[in-house]
Amino acid sequence: AVPVLTIDGPSGSGKGTISRAVAARLGWHYLDSGALYRAVGLAAGWADIDFSDHAALVRCTFDTRVEFVGEGSEEPRVLVNGTDATPELRTEITGAAASAIAAIPEVRAALRDRQRAFRQLPGLVADGRDMGTVIFPEARYKVFLTASAEERAERRYKQLKEKGVSVTLAGLLREILARDARDAQRAVAPLRPAEDAVLVDTTGTPVDVVVQRVLDLVVP
Ligand code: CDP
Repeated sequence: AVPVLTIDGPSGSGKGTISRAVAARLGWHYLDSGALYRAVGLAAGWADIDFSDHAALVRCTFDTRVEFVGEGSEEPRVLVNGTDATPELRTEITGAAASAIAAIPEVRAALRDRQRAFRQLPGLVADGRDMGTVIFPEARYKVFLTASAEERAERRYKQLKEKGVSVTLAGLLREILARDARDAQRAVAPLRPAEDAVLVDTTGTPVDVVVQRVLDLVVP
C-alpha cells in the first residue's frame, strides 16, 4: 500500500512550510488541498457564479482544472484552467472565497476523489484540515500541527508587514480566535485532530526542528 502522511491544523500552524519540507526530504508527492479549495473559489469568481447557487458551484468544482507545476522546486506554480494563478491564489479575497465554498458539503464531496488520486508511490504528504479525518482516514501516519493563537497572529503579522499591509497584532489575534471558533464549530468538516493523530505543537519551535520531529514519526 502507498504510505500516506496527513498533516492537518489551523491556518498559521505552519502546515504548508512543514508539509513541503517533509515531502521533499522523503521524496514523496505533496497534496496542497487548500490550493484546490482556493482554485475553485477563484474559478467561481472568474465565472461570476453566485455563491448561494450550490449546484453551479458543484459544476464549477468538477469543471475547474488545477495543475501543480514544479512541485518540489524553488518556485512551484499552480495553473487554474491553464492560467498561472499562483499569486492570486494566495490573496485574502481568494482565501475568503475558498473558506465559503469549503463550507458546502457537495463541494467537499466533489473534491474527494481528486484528492485521493494524489496517493501514488513512493508516498504522499497530504496537507489540509480534514486529511486524516475524512480524505485519508486509513493513512499510516497522521500529524495535527498546532501553535498558540498568539504565535500564529505574530507569524501572520510578519507576513503582512513584509507585504506592506497595515494591520495590528491585536486585531489579527482577534481574527484568528474568531476563525478558530468558526472552524471548530462549523457543521461540515469541523477542524479537529483525527483520533490517531500525533499532536505537534510548533509554538516557539524553529521549522527545521518541527520537520525533524515529523520525519521521526515516519522514519523511526
Ligand atoms: O493558510 P490557510 O489555512 O488560511 O489556507 P489554505 O490551507 O490554503 O485553505 C484555504 C481555505 O480552504 C481554508 O479557509 C479552509 O477553510 C479551506 N480548506 C478546507 O476546508 N479543507 C481543506 N482540506 C483545506 C482547506
